[in-house]
Amino acid sequence: MTMRDDELRSRVTAAFEWHFGQRPTHVVRAPGRVNLIGEHTDYNDGFVLPCAIGPSTMVAISGRSDRQVHILATDFGDATDIFDLEHIVSSEQGWANYVRGMVNALQLAGFELQGANLAVAGNIPKGAGLSSSASLEVAVGQAMLTLRGTDIDRTRLAQIAQAAECDFVGTQCGIMDQLISAQGKAAHALLIDCRTLSLTDAPVPADLAIMIVHSGVTRGLVEGHYNERRRQCETAAKAMGVAALRDADMAMLTAAKLDPATHNRARHVISENRRTIEAAAALEKGDLERLGTLMAESHQSMRDDFEITVPAIDRLVDILQKAIGREGGARMTGGGFGGACVALMPTSRIPDVRAAVESGYQTPDGSMPMILLETAGPGVHVMG
Ligand code: GLA
Repeated sequence: MTMRDDELRSRVTAAFEWHFGQRPTHVVRAPGRVNLIGEHTDYNDGFVLPCAIGPSTMVAISGRSDRQVHILATDFGDATDIFDLEHIVSSEQGWANYVRGMVNALQLAGFELQGANLAVAGNIPKGAGLSSSASLEVAVGQAMLTLRGTDIDRTRLAQIAQAAECDFVGTQCGIMDQLISAQGKAAHALLIDCRTLSLTDAPVPADLAIMIVHSGVTRGLVEGHYNERRRQCETAAKAMGVAALRDADMAMLTAAKLDPATHNRARHVISENRRTIEAAAALEKGDLERLGTLMAESHQSMRDDFEITVPAIDRLVDILQKAIGREGGARMTGGGFGGACVALMPTSRIPDVRAAVESGYQTPDGSMPMILLETAGPGVHVMG
């Protein structure tokens, strides 16, 4: 267990004991993720290349003899929530809906649950596009099932978590975040085919650094933009007569004569799918120059065609790309409109790339950006 996990585990356990006056029977950990490439492709049945990271959400749990669920959220000022398993409705506390939604979705999927006490704590920076909410859903789901001794296939767990987010929280997200939080693998990124949900291992060499830089522009109120992009993609697929943009190519796009915005959205997805598959191959070959070119093209496509970057992120990516040169690459990661950038480079380059970011970029409030150095980690697990 890393020091970071140790600290978080002590924190969630202490909070549980203080609030509920008993020891938890289990602690479950579900990681955040960083997507190396393949953005807004998941809900188009396409390809993504994420890996699970060190920061995570932990849930401490014990059973109750009634049908209630009591929650303590340590990261939201020790806010609490109580609901009944027989009647789960939306809460006014945003964070609580991830828990309520997940519990509701498990029951809708036919799982028998019991009342529970839960404490939640996490160390994934919020609003950074590193999937703190997906990790919360996955951790809660695994914890509720572990309490009953019920086994679940991890991909199924991710699908239920995605349903919670789409149907209960209201973001029409794809499967990537929940699936990598559930299925992540140490020292590997996963090339995920979001149509078949097949997972292909993409080993991350030990001397390749995964640097995550938070722009300091927090993502807020992005559901509207996100859902709009998704609708535009569906419109484009329909106009081309295909089930999803995964099935379209550039010739079909040209022939479809879509309005400029819809055309550009579709062009991003079609080109991003191709780049993602190629990036997995470049990673395997250790071809960092090609990987960097694909990451640069991905960022440009998110900026110009999908229009989900913001000027501060474009500046940060530019600084990272110039510092890294041909030995890797950088791009915005996640849903967009703020959040973090991911950069890949040989570990030997970390000090000078870090120095370039620290001297060349300031967050909107004038502070130094948060820089994380991550290795690909495992997916959800019950802590021993
Ligand atoms: C968010 C969603 C994912 C995915 C990404 C963009 O993280 O939750 O499903 O669509 O945006 O790639």
